[in-house]
Amino acid sequence: MKTRVAGSKTKTPPASMLYRQRFRVSYSYPVHFTSGLFNRGNTVLDTVFRAFPETPRRVLVYVDDGLASAWPTLIPDIQAWFRARPEAMELVRDPEIVPGGERTKNGWNVVQAIMSTIGAAHLCRHSYVMALGGGSVLDMVGFAASLVHRGIRMIRVPSTVLAQCDAGVGVKTGMDEHGMKNFAGTFAPPAAVLVDFEFLKTLSAKYRVGGVSEAIKVAMIKDAVFFKDLCRSARRIAAGDNRLLADAVRRSAILHLEHIRTGGDPFEFGAARPLDFGHWAAHHLEILSHYRLGHGQAVSIGLALDTCYAHREGLVSRAERDALLRLLESLGLPTWDPVLELADGTGYPVVLKGIEVFREHLGGQLSITLPDGIGRKREVHTVDMAVMRECMDWLKRRVAVIERDPT
Ligand SMILES: NC(=O)c1ccc[n+]([C@@H]2O[C@H](COP(=O)([O-])OP(=O)(O)OC[C@H]3O[C@@H](n4cnc5c(N)ncnc54)[C@H](O)[C@@H]3O)[C@@H](O)[C@H]2O)c1
Ligand SMILES: [Zn+2]
Repeated sequence: MKTRVAGSKTKTPPASMLYRQRFRVSYSYPVHFTSGLFNRGNTVLDTVFRAFPETPRRVLVYVDDGLASAWPTLIPDIQAWFRARPEAMELVRDPEIVPGGERTKNGWNVVQAIMSTIGAAHLCRHSYVMALGGGSVLDMVGFAASLVHRGIRMIRVPSTVLAQCDAGVGVKTGMDEHGMKNFAGTFAPPAAVLVDFEFLKTLSAKYRVGGVSEAIKVAMIKDAVFFKDLCRSARRIAAGDNRLLADAVRRSAILHLEHIRTGGDPFEFGAARPLDFGHWAAHHLEILSHYRLGHGQAVSIGLALDTCYAHREGLVSRAERDALLRLLESLGLPTWDPVLELADGTGYPVVLKGIEVFREHLGGQLSITLPDGIGRKREVHTVDMAVMRECMDWLKRRVAVIERDPT
């Protein structure tokens, strides 16, 4: 029997109900290309800080240890800059040096220390964390900053080729965990990016040319003219031409930015990730080599491998494949490494397991970006492992021939 409440009608609740929540959030951040950020007369930093809305503005600064030792006056220069402009931004405490290189993304001690410092300095969501360094330091400091108060604003000052032309301008942070590159990470667009070409002058050859592989990656799938220009300038870049290097960095950074803005999937909900062309192998090669191969070198091998595969699949002509290989080689970048030969107990190359790891990381159906000619791309959803193995063997033979006769 139904109970009636006096004065009310009996109402059966609906079995289910849908309220469709929908909103958009738009992002905008400046990316400045400059030289000598902290030099007297350079107004970029001033302009950027003054455009930030709320005052007082407060910042904590973290500096990559490799950058700090290559530029011994950098920290005093930063301190002097802030001392001279107390109204632009308050430097909450002296800049702190953090470990540079991939090791900084392995382990949580520094992340926790940064979070504690942010807490002790009472930074709020309207404050800033500024990181100067390579892609690894930007990933690690950015990760820490993105966690506190669900995200403190981040100012990035990338200081390697790779960080300036790719890692530093995008929307992601990452930590290596669970035996995987970037297993943990966040989407956290920066408040500003300040690219200072001066910093490139002190890079070792490994990191000077290594980062160019990301420029080649994006040129190969998006911009045939840029690819041609890189082919023309590669030898001079490798020989130390900083003007050509800066030009390549700027064009690559803009192509990455354009992709994030217009690609339709800035936060990577889909399964396709064109900017990760060559990366299923690259990430695995870094791990298998215990990071002897830098990210740039590993990407170079990944590009070589996937372009050979694209040739076998009829997407890339022999001439186009060879142009890519010659471009990598003329920069002194590797196209093969003995780590490709590491095999499991059944003789299966361990690197090929990177394809499944990559699929799992992206989620959904396997989606690998391959070049479709030069300057265009195509997604493929299956990979013929036998053909991929043949490509690895072919690259090994090619490298052996070049080593015997470098002319
Ligand atoms: N978040 C992203 O979107 C994204 C994109 C691409 C790559 N990454 C990540 O970036 C990392 C690689 O970054 P990287 O190639 O910049 O290398 P890196 O950050 O590991 O730095 C390489 C070395 O250069 C030193 N260094 C930095 N600046 C210097 C300078 N100006 N002069 C002399 N030495 C300097 C560092 O101390 C380090 O020893 C990888 O972990 C990769 O996964 C992230
Ligand atoms: Zn990369």
